[in-house]
Amino acid sequence: MDEGQDANRQSTRNDPPGDQLDGGKTEMDRRDFIKELGTMGLAKWAGVGVLEQAAATPLTLLAANKGLLFGSCLALKYFVQSPAYRQLFLTQCDVATPEVHMKWNSLSSQPGVYDFGNADKFVAFCATNHIKVRGHTLVWHDALPAWATAQLTTGNGRAMMVDHIRKVAGHFAGKLYSWDVVNEVLDPGSHRPDGLRDSLWLQNVGVDYIEQAFHATAAADPNALLVWNENYLEVSNGFGAAKRTAMLNLLDGLLARGVPIHGVGLEAHLRGDQASVLGDASYEAFLSELGRRGMKIFITELDVQDLTFPADTGARDQAVAEIYSRFLTASLRQPAVRGVVTWGLSDNFSWIAAYRPRKDGLPVRPLPFDAKYQPKAAYYAIAETLESAPRRA
Ligand code: G3I
Repeated sequence: MDEGQDANRQSTRNDPPGDQLDGGKTEMDRRDFIKELGTMGLAKWAGVGVLEQAAATPLTLLAANKGLLFGSCLALKYFVQSPAYRQLFLTQCDVATPEVHMKWNSLSSQPGVYDFGNADKFVAFCATNHIKVRGHTLVWHDALPAWATAQLTTGNGRAMMVDHIRKVAGHFAGKLYSWDVVNEVLDPGSHRPDGLRDSLWLQNVGVDYIEQAFHATAAADPNALLVWNENYLEVSNGFGAAKRTAMLNLLDGLLARGVPIHGVGLEAHLRGDQASVLGDASYEAFLSELGRRGMKIFITELDVQDLTFPADTGARDQAVAEIYSRFLTASLRQPAVRGVVTWGLSDNFSWIAAYRPRKDGLPVRPLPFDAKYQPKAAYYAIAETLESAPRRA
């Protein structure tokens, strides 16, 4: 499985002509463009009409120098709303996660009927621009269509889950870099000794639903890297510690039974008020334990919630940047970490605006670029941590 990337690789295929979604760049165009931006700077490119944001050395280039992937989630509507965002995305990312397009409720609004239109567009855009795709996500307690929730029973749970995986992973077989096979399956709040979330899947398929999901995905898409994506593992408090213990125990069982699991995704939706419990020694020890078990680790949904930070933009950006820096420095020290994906690139396209707004009503600033696509302190913090990260073999 190729987990690194070659910044100089060349396309061996004919790219279709560009349109609003595909960006119209061949791999060589995009690579040359990115390399030029990395070595030259705003003055030269401003003269030829390239956006100012492009002057920031592409994070993907800094990551590639260390054998790491860098990218972001993406919803296609952002490109429709802002062609400049498409340019930012093409410049900064070598891996992309569909923010919504591959979720069950995005694919299927009626029993058994699947519409892959938007997900196919997403994959085609990424293929044209040689961006790897992280499939997200096959088995989640959230983003289920109403019909599936209503139909699930202990009698049909396994068949419904496996049928969904076969249809979706089978549809994209051979085209994706990885699959988030299961998502957010741990929940200390469910008070189970095994740490599993008391979800519809657990209730209707049984405690072995995770391994069944991995087996079904491996059968449907044998070359994809199969990942267990999870939240709050990065937080060194009681909740996070309980999740880490549960994951390592469950992982030992899965691996002992030969379940095809290759990686762990750490969502890393970081919270400003949790700065003191991020990136400490216990976190690194956990990553090291995952690495010892042969897991490739990906930071999969990185952003920083700023609702507890001061209103002042400069102070707020600095506080956000410090969290990126602390967290990524610790993460990238661990050789098992192979890539970083942020949950958006610029502050105008972030789930946090709707889900974790500030009480003072000010726009949130959780991402590396501002709403005008200018690099912020967070961008420089990420760039610095990538530059000082040890190189992967
Ligand atoms: O597409 C419909 C639109 O037709 C409708 O008019 C509108 C009305 O609310 O809703 C639109 O769907 C929204 C969808 O995003 C697409 O924008 C859903 O309401 C909204 O709930 C959905 O939110 C996404 C959420 O996952 C649930 O799927 C967020 O954008 C996305 O950022 C978030 O991502 C999750 C990861 O997958 C897993 N980890 C946590 C992360 C943040 O919550």
